[in-house]
Amino acid sequence: MTPVALDALLASLHHLLVFSLVAVLFAELVLTGAAPDAGRLRQLGKLDGAYGMLSMSVVVAGFVRAVYGAKGWSYYAGNEMFWAKISVFVIVGLLSAVPTVQLIRWRKRGVVPDAAAMRSLRRWMLGEAALIALIPVLAVLMARGIGY
Ligand code: HEM
Repeated sequence: MTPVALDALLASLHHLLVFSLVAVLFAELVLTGAAPDAGRLRQLGKLDGAYGMLSMSVVVAGFVRAVYGAKGWSYYAGNEMFWAKISVFVIVGLLSAVPTVQLIRWRKRGVVPDAAAMRSLRRWMLGEAALIALIPVLAVLMARGIGY
């Protein structure tokens, strides 16, 4: 595979995973908008599992892209926007741990939460959605060499 083809492949994979991650987060936001029944809670658990897998895949695909993409690792290693982007993504990951743990607890105890409990879970997800919106901006700056 030529370096350009590899770069295009990694870029496509990165975008596909990122779009899927954001889509799953918004699906979770929709499902947490009302008091759930057991079926909805199960669905939410599945979506949250998919969100976790997609997050890991974004990290792997992102770093593979940073190392093997056209610009090479040295381009990103010294770029503040790159590290700002990673830091925001880590914070989003930490925020997402709270609803994940809560959903697992509810499932294990067979609890179906009320609307207030669901609203507090949703606030964490809204925080994630707000922060995730910053990441493409940082990515655009990083890709254009701003941040050295
Ligand atoms: C650990 C996680 C991530 C890593 C290591 C990573 C790494 C990268 C790399 C190496 C590029 C190539 C930039 C260039 O052309 O020089 C890129 C581009 C991009 N990334 Fe990520 N990324 C990560 C997560 C994310 C997330 C979560 C989002 C969005 C929510 C995102 C959005 C973008 C966008 C929009 C671009 C294209 C920027 C442009 O070409 O203008 N990335 N990323």
